[in-house]
Amino acid sequence: MTTDSMRAVAILTESARPHCTNNSSLATFNMHGQPVHIAMLRVPAPKFSPASAEHRNKVLVRTRAFSCNYRDQSMIMSAAQKAKDAFYVIGSEFSAEVIAVGEDVQDLDPGHRVIPNCAYHGMIRGVQSGIPTNHASAEFQIHTSNSLIRIPDSMDWTTGAAFPIGAQTVYSMVRKIGAGPGSNVLVTAARSNTSLFAITALSGIGSNVYALTSSQVDTDKLLNLGAKEVFIVERSVPNLLMDPRVRETVQQIGGFNAVIDPFFDVYLGKVLPVMAPDSRYITCGLWEQYSMPGKEADAIAGEMYRKALVNAMFNNVHIICNCIGTTKDLQRALTDYGEARLPVIIDTVCTGQNVGSFLERTFGSHGHFGKIVFQY
Ligand SMILES: NC(=O)c1ccc[n+]([C@@H]2O[C@H](COP(=O)([O-])OP(=O)(O)OC[C@H]3O[C@@H](n4cnc5c(N)ncnc54)[C@H](OP(=O)(O)O)[C@@H]3O)[C@@H](O)[C@H]2O)c1
Repeated sequence: MTTDSMRAVAILTESARPHCTNNSSLATFNMHGQPVHIAMLRVPAPKFSPASAEHRNKVLVRTRAFSCNYRDQSMIMSAAQKAKDAFYVIGSEFSAEVIAVGEDVQDLDPGHRVIPNCAYHGMIRGVQSGIPTNHASAEFQIHTSNSLIRIPDSMDWTTGAAFPIGAQTVYSMVRKIGAGPGSNVLVTAARSNTSLFAITALSGIGSNVYALTSSQVDTDKLLNLGAKEVFIVERSVPNLLMDPRVRETVQQIGGFNAVIDPFFDVYLGKVLPVMAPDSRYITCGLWEQYSMPGKEADAIAGEMYRKALVNAMFNNVHIICNCIGTTKDLQRALTDYGEARLPVIIDTVCTGQNVGSFLERTFGSHGHFGKIVFQY
């Protein structure tokens, strides 16, 4: 490894901003009312020693493209609020080329094209699993070989950087709800990246996908991805049975067999009344993940959960929580992608110095349809 420095996309604290030398990339984005400074920096590159005890089972990769996820918002906002002169390298998904491997690594070689394997085994003390980095924009990274997985030749760098978290999570959720041909599955927040993966994966196996969105736009795109119907319902509606089209569908099909919901704090209470007896509700996340100055706890939340769980009990609904997935889930998703059964939706690819546009498109209020990827 000969490079001493590398590129990385970072959030700068207020006091660090005047020291940024790459002014052509420096941008300020208003994130939930808070100014966030971002820039492409040159930072020290990691040193890799294949024979060392530290790196024997590790792999040095060169990042080709990266993206951020919903979860990154809280890390970005807390990094931006720090008082000291500091920067925080962002990114949680990437695609990369293997540059060098440690002496004990058997399954990867220089030149192989990889993405993270985010296989998650739960919160077991001392066992590291899940997303391997929160700094995926670092141009050179060192990872254990089992936290990387090869991608098919047909997958380009940008698709690779948009793939691991959404695909691995959704393949796990589809497996856990037992969806198959003819299952009636409601997918909430249909335009979210997670739900776009869910719609394509479910329609690929012949399930009837009902997409629930709060947005008036993109209905045709959701239908083109395989949704059988798109319900546009305002987020303020407390019970989906209040929507005439949803109610009519529920009467026709006898309730949904499953619900995939990326935001349980928004949708759990609303969807339980439209689920069939013995059906499965699965969630992988919540809306309120980042704290905003002055934001207060939702006073009605406790009551919403009480009512929801009573409703679930009386209808024998299985409530399942899901965090990412297994290696097999990711392998199945990669196979489906390789055999053209899993389209990946990309909204925008940013390049050059356009890190401000990258952040704004990823987390701005305009509403993306698909992943935003930065390609080096
Ligand atoms: N635990 C895990 O393993 C895991 C893995 C992946 C994702 N997740 C979680 O899944 C969730 C979605 O992540 P993502 O990256 O897919 O998100 P995303 O793409 O940023 O989601 C954006 C979508 O959220 C909906 N939305 C926007 N404002 C909203 C509001 N105020 N209330 C409710 N919905 C709103 C909109 O959908 P519509 O326009 O269609 O309404 C919007 O298109 C997050 O909670 C994330 O942490 C968890």
